[in-house]
Parts: sequence; C-alpha cells; structure tokens
Amino acid sequence: MSNTVLEIKNVSKYYGSKQIIKNLSFEIYEGEVFGFIGPNGAGKSTLIRILCGLTPPTTGTVTICGYSLSKQFEKAMDNLGVVMENCKLYPYMTGMQNLKYFASLTKKCSASELYDLIEMVGLTNRIYDKVSTYSLGMLQRLNLAQALLDKPKFLVLDEPTNGLDVNGVIDLRQILRSIARKNDIAIFISSHVLSELEQICDTVAIFDNGAILELRTLADLKEQNSTSKSIQIQVDYPNYACKIIYQQFKVSPELAGNSIILPYNSVKMGAVISALKRQGLTIFSADVTTKSLEEIYLDVIKQFRGKNSSGGVM
Ligand SMILES: Nc1ncnc2c1ncn2[C@@H]1O[C@H](COP(=O)(O)OP(=O)(O)OP(=O)(O)O)[C@@H](O)[C@H]1O
Ligand SMILES: [Mg+2]
Repeated sequence: MSNTVLEIKNVSKYYGSKQIIKNLSFEIYEGEVFGFIGPNGAGKSTLIRILCGLTPPTTGTVTICGYSLSKQFEKAMDNLGVVMENCKLYPYMTGMQNLKYFASLTKKCSASELYDLIEMVGLTNRIYDKVSTYSLGMLQRLNLAQALLDKPKFLVLDEPTNGLDVNGVIDLRQILRSIARKNDIAIFISSHVLSELEQICDTVAIFDNGAILELRTLADLKEQNSTSKSIQIQVDYPNYACKIIYQQFKVSPELAGNSIILPYNSVKMGAVISALKRQGLTIFSADVTTKSLEEIYLDVIKQFRGKNSSGGVM
C-alpha cells in the first residue's frame, strides 16, 4: 500500500448553526488522483479551504504527509500546492517574473527545473508577457506552475476546468496525469462535472450536502456503468405494452414518454418485441442504452436527496 498523503478524520465545519461539512473521514495516497464531485453549494470549496489551512475545521483533524495541520502547520504546508480561482498572481509582472518571485521565497526550484515546469504547463511562448494580458486558460496554467514550484507531495485544485475550452480541459488532464505518475504526488480535484474528470481520476468521491455519498475507484464505477444497460422500446400504446410485458415476463417496465425501459438482463429484447407485435402494437424503435458515468452520479445525488427531502442545499 502506498504512503498516505492526506488523512482527514471526523472533520466537521459549522458556519453559525449550519453544518456545512458533516463528519468526513477519508485518505488519499501517493500517486492517486482523487476526484471530489458534487453539485453547487455541496461544500467542496469549504472543504478545500480547510485542507489548505485557510479556515479551521470546527471538529476533527487534517494530516498532510504525517504533519497535523493544526499542530505542525508550516511542515504540513511545505507539502501542499494549491490551485484556486483567485490565486495571488501579480498582473503587472510577466509570467516569468511571477514564477521567479515565488520561487525565490523558498528556493526549492532550480532555474532549469523552472524552465521544465513552464514547458510542462505549455506556457513557453507567453511566459515573458504580462499576466494582465493572459486568457483564463493561461492564468490557470500559470497558477498550476506556481503551485508546483515547491514540489508539493499533495496538490489541490478547486474546479480547475472552470472557464477552460475543450482543448484546455484535455491539456490540463494530460498535465495532471503526468505529474501524478512522474512525481508520485497525490492530487485532489474538485468539480461539479464528473465527465470532465473521469479520464484522470483513480478514485471518485460523490459529495453532496457536506457528506460523501459514495467513494469508489473509477474502475468500480465503470464496472457499474457497464452492467447498467437497459432496453428502451418506443411503442404506440406504452401503458398497454407495460401490462402485456408484466403478464408475460413478470417484470414492470419504467415509462418515459412513449418509451418503456427494462433492465437489460431481465428479458430478451426479441421476445418482448414479438409479444408486443402479437398484441397488435406498433414499435417505433428498440435500443439497448448504457448509462453514462454522469447519469450514475446524478442518480446517486437524486437518491440521496429523495431520502433526505429536507437536505436541499441551494
Ligand atoms: N464564510 C461562509 N459563511 C457562511 N456560509 C458559508 C461560508 N462559506 C460557504 N458557506 C456556505 O456553505 C455552503 C457550501 O459552500 P461551498 O462554497 O463550499 O460549496 P461548493 O461545493 O464549493 O459550491 P460551488 O460548486 O458552487 O463552488 C453554501 O451553502 C455556502 O453558502
Ligand atoms: Mg466551490
């Protein structure tokens, strides 16, 4: 088992009487890319502010590379790099001046390593331009380079794909994946869109209303994905079709408009179609569909909110 980089134990956070983070515990390991997915207002940024020492948890402990955030703050911070939307960069200086300034504070990054870093984030052509002329994507790249200057073992990114175009998202994915593998660092990325992260994460935590609803490896989620196929048949009298199917196959289809939906393994599609045709129904289409990971994620959120109808966060 790889080394633990982040350990969160029983962390809660209240703002006034409102509990924003609810007794969270989990760990992240070396080389792991950990996706933290939840809708707006779930509490993602609040947890990230706690991880970065910007606000203390009301209860519980955060440990980074074995150092307690509350008791060994500086040592814990030594191992942390952060990319947030309002990171402090100086707009009147060039990208290079910014990086050299931040590198001079800790002197952990040599000149040649600095050039490698700039190359890696894809800013070589613009690094001598003033930051005030940068697009959002370039700012994100510079933020990332700055966060990596001190060679952190733990990199935290809050919604890093916000405002990036498709190419930007693909670039960022590749950069992050290669950093995690090459430097063996743990990466924590928050997002409200699972599909953006599904190609880089090893582990995904589905988070809503201050709590983790599911914590699974991406491989596990994909496995669930491949077994969640369904049969969808468009028919002229869907209610009648449901009755026929129940009588003959003892399964109750779901209704969606003029389509009926059946779990893939519950029946043979050909047999159902023949049965409906024998009763004189007209079939417009019949397909096997697969749920996307995004749909699985939304299902989990919906199920949880259904069980806790007072649990709306917005
Ligand atoms: N300083 C604060 N004081 C009081 N309430 C706060 C404070 N910061 C956040 N909250 C509340 O905590 C809840 C979670 O907010 P947070 O910003 O952590 O969500 P988020 O998951 O990052 O959402 P988004 O996807 O919109 O960025 C919200 O209801 C928010 O209003
Ligand atoms: Mg946020």
